[in-house]
Amino acid sequence: MRAAALFLIAALSLSLAACGPRISAEQKAQALQSFATVEQVFQHPRCSNCHIPGDQPLQFDSQTPHMMNVVRGPEGKGAPGQPCSTCHGEANPPAGYSAHAPPGAPHWQLPPPDHKMAWIGLPAHELCAMIQDRKRNGDRDMPALIKHVSEDKLVLWGWNPGGNRVPVPVPHDRFVAAFKTWADAGAPCPSP
Ligand code: HEC
Ligand code: HEC
Repeated sequence: MRAAALFLIAALSLSLAACGPRISAEQKAQALQSFATVEQVFQHPRCSNCHIPGDQPLQFDSQTPHMMNVVRGPEGKGAPGQPCSTCHGEANPPAGYSAHAPPGAPHWQLPPPDHKMAWIGLPAHELCAMIQDRKRNGDRDMPALIKHVSEDKLVLWGWNPGGNRVPVPVPHDRFVAAFKTWADAGAPCPSP
């Protein structure tokens, strides 16, 4: 009796695991191509300088540690005595300021230490798994992720980074469209 019940549960979970959205080989290829665009943006220094495993944000295209011993701190907002907001405002400084003045956007900070959302340098298949893992992405489902990449002020800053910083090269609308194409196909991941 118990064995039969166990077998049933096992069979059920197997068929559930196999279910997922049914997509054609062509749609999958297109989704993986779209994911390559997503990856290109996520790994760009304007994004990955904050999405790091360590505790010191990175700077510049060279991705060197942030000057002045700036650290993540208990909530991602910097050390209690030196929060990010000491230097970073809600917007980039107006034209006429030094190209090295601190850039700004609302809620300028690193992700908190208990979910660092650190993907810099990850291989594509790991980045792909991590983005959609609700234990590691701030408990976001796909619609919440799409909203985040469409509207979040720190994300949008990547296309208007101020100073002489190079913006993310993929146009924002093309990035969002690629994210949606990938998500609509069930967010498949490239093989390792
Ligand atoms: C100044 C630092 C900073 C920059 C620059 C930045 N982010 Fe983030 N990002 C954060 C913080 C902080 C969070 C967490 C916000 C939260 O959970 O409310 C976050 C969360 C996210 C998330 C949701 C969590 C996850 O793991 O999926 C995504 C997606 C994301 N960022 C993408 C980007 C992209 C794409 C760029 C560049 C275009 C970018 N970020 C640039 C700080 C930054
Ligand atoms: C004491 C002032 C100061 C503090 C505090 C500070 N920053 Fe900065 N930050 C700067 C300056 C100045 C720049 C610009 C440097 C340049 O372009 O030469 C900068 C640049 C950056 C960049 C550059 C991005 C790029 O792509 O090149 C990031 C990311 C960043 N800071 C994140 C943070 C975070 C996150 C915190 C808080 C944990 C923080 N900063 C705290 C002064 C500060």
